[in-house]
Amino acid sequence: MKVGLGGQNMEKIANIKDIGKGESLTFNYKGERAILIRTKEDKLVAYISICPHEGGGIEWDKGINKILCECHLSLFNVSDGSVYRHSSLFELKKGLTRIETKVDKNQDIYAL
Ligand code: FES
Repeated sequence: MKVGLGGQNMEKIANIKDIGKGESLTFNYKGERAILIRTKEDKLVAYISICPHEGGGIEWDKGINKILCECHLSLFNVSDGSVYRHSSLFELKKGLTRIETKVDKNQDIYAL
């Protein structure tokens, strides 16, 4: 659902009660698969779920608190999507594409 908040066109992802601390969910963002993560520290971050290397799918590995691309085992930082560890086969110069989020007074979470 698209909503205009403060002059911005935003897409509702979920309500805060739909995602506990230390959990993630996937959502569709402008036709792309995306992931919303609520960290144990209660920070919300969202990324397009496409690896910048060759477009592999990414998943949040809660155990190590990193985002993993299983295609070539690159790891990304949860806090900003930057590259944490490259595959041994190549050097990644670009991190994940971040999606800005906003939470309104009803605790609904929106993607910009
Ligand atoms: S496609 Fe993700 S590391 Fe290669």
